[in-house]
Amino acid sequence: MTFQEQILQGLPNTLPVHPGYDAAINHAPKRKEILTAEEKKLALRNALRYFSAELHAELSQEFAQELRDYGRIYMYRFRPTYAMKARPLDEYPGRSTEAKAIMLMIHNNLDPAVAQHPHELITYGGNGAVFQNWAQYLLTMRYLAEMTDEQTLVMYSGHPMGLFPSHRNAPRVVVTNGMMIPNYSRPDDWEKFNALGVSQYGQMTAGSYMYIGPQGIVHGTTITVLNALRRFAKSSNNPGVKLFVTAGLGGMSGAQPKAGNIAGVVSVTAEINPKAVTTRHSQGWVDEVIAKMDQLCQRVKQALAQHEVVSIAYLGNVVEVWEGFEQAGIFVDLGSDQTSLHNPFAGGYYPAGLTYEESNDMMANDPEEFKRRVYESLRRHVESVNRHTSNGTYFFDYGNAFLLEASRAGAEVMDEKGLDFKYPSYVQDILGPFCFDYGFGPFRWVCASGKSSDLETTDRIAKKVMEEMLQEAPEEIKLQLLDNLQWIEKANENKLVVGSQARILYADAEGRMRIAAAFNEAIGRGEIGPVILGRDHHDVSGTDSPYRETSNIYDGSRFTADMAIQNVIGDSFRGATWVSIHNGGGVGWGEVINGGFGMLLDGSERARTNLTMMLHWDVNNGIARRNWARNPNARFAIERAMEQEPLLKVTMPSTVSDDLLEDLF
Ligand SMILES: NC(=O)c1ccc[n+]([C@@H]2O[C@H](COP(=O)([O-])OP(=O)(O)OC[C@H]3O[C@@H](n4cnc5c(N)ncnc54)[C@H](O)[C@@H]3O)[C@@H](O)[C@H]2O)c1
Repeated sequence: MTFQEQILQGLPNTLPVHPGYDAAINHAPKRKEILTAEEKKLALRNALRYFSAELHAELSQEFAQELRDYGRIYMYRFRPTYAMKARPLDEYPGRSTEAKAIMLMIHNNLDPAVAQHPHELITYGGNGAVFQNWAQYLLTMRYLAEMTDEQTLVMYSGHPMGLFPSHRNAPRVVVTNGMMIPNYSRPDDWEKFNALGVSQYGQMTAGSYMYIGPQGIVHGTTITVLNALRRFAKSSNNPGVKLFVTAGLGGMSGAQPKAGNIAGVVSVTAEINPKAVTTRHSQGWVDEVIAKMDQLCQRVKQALAQHEVVSIAYLGNVVEVWEGFEQAGIFVDLGSDQTSLHNPFAGGYYPAGLTYEESNDMMANDPEEFKRRVYESLRRHVESVNRHTSNGTYFFDYGNAFLLEASRAGAEVMDEKGLDFKYPSYVQDILGPFCFDYGFGPFRWVCASGKSSDLETTDRIAKKVMEEMLQEAPEEIKLQLLDNLQWIEKANENKLVVGSQARILYADAEGRMRIAAAFNEAIGRGEIGPVILGRDHHDVSGTDSPYRETSNIYDGSRFTADMAIQNVIGDSFRGATWVSIHNGGGVGWGEVINGGFGMLLDGSERARTNLTMMLHWDVNNGIARRNWARNPNARFAIERAMEQEPLLKVTMPSTVSDDLLEDLF
């Protein structure tokens, strides 16, 4: 059967040959046993409803075994054998070009070169799922291949509920992931409802088909490291080149060494999983690998002395690095952490003192003891970081719930008043005030032709737009534009593409609209093929997350989620090709609501109208909210936006003098 025939077949009527369990691939850890015997039967009933009754006898045995072995029913037998990768748009079967674009993006999210646990349909973050099982994948692809532009496919946490009549300018797909009744959003609720097969953790761009590999995050990480150096790492201890210490070479964290190189530092990234180290090293994302602490200290001292920009992976536990550098008297300028602490007890954080294998074994077989070891390790971790920061290291939380989980572990991470964490998050100090409040965020695009020449053309177009904007820009945003211009100039040479022909570029509302309009014109002239626009959810307006994206909102509203919900509703009726809204992503299930969109540009007038209307809303919604929270940079940005667009009218806050309030309570 050809690729197209397999897509159109959807779920086969007879059982396909089991493709086997490929041990060479990075697999999700066994999930903890959470279901009662009755609930396990319910999970099986749920899984078997995808198949006709004559297959139930064989599949019930097989799925029960998967539940025992892996804690989930992935339906491995139904994993397709064709290459899982983004193909040029015209290779997909179908009647809707927009639906084909969505298929392309789904394939990219499941590409083994891109995805963290491709056979468990996990793209990144340990649990960021595109689908819960392979039946959902097969059904969804078939729906996409048969749907018209008068229909909308409705996705409930990976499950395709079906095609519903809609209209040409409606989204082709509407995705919800992990949306729960609020009281059922504890971490164990995810374990339970995911094991039952009725909910999934979509992370941000996993369940919304908008992941573009670590490139998406290199840019944001580079901006963060650059600004942390510029604004906060002031010590003269390492006079030539500065030292950055962190952890994680996984899906997003794998971008850190590359960002370190671009920002011009010596970086040491600890990673406990040998497969993750090998992947990033072989992809050229990290320069050197060292597994022994004394060798690491020697190499770092040498690089600092010789002012050599280099990225080093330490194969081992990050706690060893912090403690080892203390003993060796190595001064760390910048410190952070990107272990997956949003998911601390199921493979996100490996405690010091256990090997990788011992941890994997313990988290499945003795979860209580594992939790105790995680908390013990976090306390040790923080103790060492605290000693470094008392010597002048600038440490920041990288939005991975490090401080949140460390506080739960009883580690000393609170400030003197005991109200706030003693370290800022990267959004509070850097991304919030200098990017999000002005509207700058992780705009991205994918060239649907699959041609690298198209990507080069779009890079050139974006660069030209940025140069024009730099000429006209007010002082307040010149530095951001300059950083982004440098990024796009070097993007091709930095070889950032893994998977689809994609590019990320931080841009504000005006930049996004102007760049997208210029792409649409180039498509119309036939210079390039169609382009898919999108963004990370980690953006100005798409995400309400009190310890991350909205951590620099200080009016008390950071625990509300109105902005993210408004955003996805607004995008959906302003021409988005698909929209998604998720519970969980980055900081954890129940800790964040986030949404995003995808939009296909085909060079048409309709695309031109949609991109202008939707991108304007997609950024200015968040700026308006940040302005209402009295953030001064957002006030500047929204006043400018209102000058540029007379139809925009935003409620402005009045600021009360503190003197008036002093004696009132
Ligand atoms: N990069 C960003 O811009 C960004 C932004 C916000 C949040 N985050 C957060 O960063 C975290 C990491 O994301 P990811 O996609 O890379 O996750 P991931 O699970 O793919 O990678 C984390 C890596 O950390 C390693 N690790 C865990 N404990 C360790 C330890 N004690 N010592 C050394 N290595 C250890 C794991 O083996 C894993 O490879 C997530 O919580 C994510 O939400 C990243």
